[in-house]
Amino acid sequence: MAKHLIFLGAPGVGKGTQAQRLAQLMDLPHVSTGDMLRASIQSGREIGLRAAAVMESGALVGDEIIIGIVGERLSLPDAAAGVVFDGFPRTIHQAHALDTLLAAHGDEIGAVLHLDLDDEGIVERLSGRRVCSKCGAIYHIRYHAPAAYGVCDLCGGALLQRDDDQPAIIRKRLAVYQAETAPLIAYYHERPTYRLVSGEGEADEVFSRIVKAVGAAG
Ligand code: AP5
Repeated sequence: MAKHLIFLGAPGVGKGTQAQRLAQLMDLPHVSTGDMLRASIQSGREIGLRAAAVMESGALVGDEIIIGIVGERLSLPDAAAGVVFDGFPRTIHQAHALDTLLAAHGDEIGAVLHLDLDDEGIVERLSGRRVCSKCGAIYHIRYHAPAAYGVCDLCGGALLQRDDDQPAIIRKRLAVYQAETAPLIAYYHERPTYRLVSGEGEADEVFSRIVKAVGAAG
């Protein structure tokens, strides 16, 4: 039986940074719907073409597209022991769909890790973020700078700023989070697997809290 882990939280709170680390520690695939959509855009796939304008605007891509790509991803052999979700589910409809999908496979949610940070911290993190165009590694110009300016430490790829990390789009994404994703907190809150984790402080500190929370969630 697979036990999947979910990262819940506002844009820029640190879900991707922490999900990559946790996936590595637990030897599980890191499943980021944002990364999957960006890969579809880069490769010119139909889904990417449909999602590109929506993502640039800061709105959410349609539930049916997202549920479709997650369903496909979970059917791959490497998801058999569980995955670390990053950025999914993001609406109540997606959360229901995930519950239905997991029930059909006899799988469970091992932990819902709700990362929390104030808006000021979020805007600072997003406006300084740089992402490797080749391997997806996440940097920050102040908090996690690469050794050589603009170059990924891991693969030598060019570091770029995401199109949706512009101030006006960041504000829109935060508003969309409040309207469409924050209701998921109430959806998961009463479950024994729900854990609220402070996203404040250095990434190592936050990671220690997460590892503890996953252990406590069983
Ligand atoms: P997605 O790619 O999922 O973006 P997001 O949820 O907006 O989250 P971010 O990637 O912006 O932030 P994060 O929390 O991962 O933070 P990070 O670790 O990078 O989605 C993009 C778009 O795709 C959506 O707007 C939507 O259109 C679409 N989409 C995706 N999934 C969807 C879904 N399920 N349904 C519908 N549409 C969907 O950290 C941010 C920065 O902070 C980095 O620079 C990092 O280095 C730094 N940092 C991290 N931790 C710390 C720390 N502790 N201290 C200091 N700096 C830190």
